[in-house]
Amino acid sequence: MKSIELLQSAQALLEIQPNTTSILANASAFLMESLEQLNWVGFYLFDGKNLTVGPFQGKVACSSIAIGKGVCGEAALTQKTLVVDNVLSYQNHIACDSNSKSEVVIPIFIKGRLFGVLDVDSPVFSRFDQDIVHFLEEFTKLLVKTIDI
Ligand code: SME
Repeated sequence: MKSIELLQSAQALLEIQPNTTSILANASAFLMESLEQLNWVGFYLFDGKNLTVGPFQGKVACSSIAIGKGVCGEAALTQKTLVVDNVLSYQNHIACDSNSKSEVVIPIFIKGRLFGVLDVDSPVFSRFDQDIVHFLEEFTKLLVKTIDI
């Protein structure tokens, strides 16, 4: 399916979810189902101090990440999407699933405040090219609109 069609399907799915937990849970399932070569998709949510694991698909993950630590914490701190083509050679990477080879993290802001991050991992090096990163950023915008009703 093309990105535009995926985004339309995502919108239809997300806008009927009753609450934020349902949105995030089905959002992670949707991405895992729709995109190839992924081993972990999920959210870390900002609790006012740290990033705490939220709804996800994949293996058991670390439950709390400090701002600035790991790829997730770094993306939250810099407020920018962070793509790591080879997590094995990236010093500030926290290894949760040893299958992960590349990773993208997109910070999520709602009404100007850090809400959390979307973390997507792949068992393949350099999985996240410009197209998929753009798609995930658009997906995240949709998510924010849906949560921010
Ligand atoms: N690798 C992440 C930690 C989370 S797991 O990938 C699910 C990081 O470095 O922030």
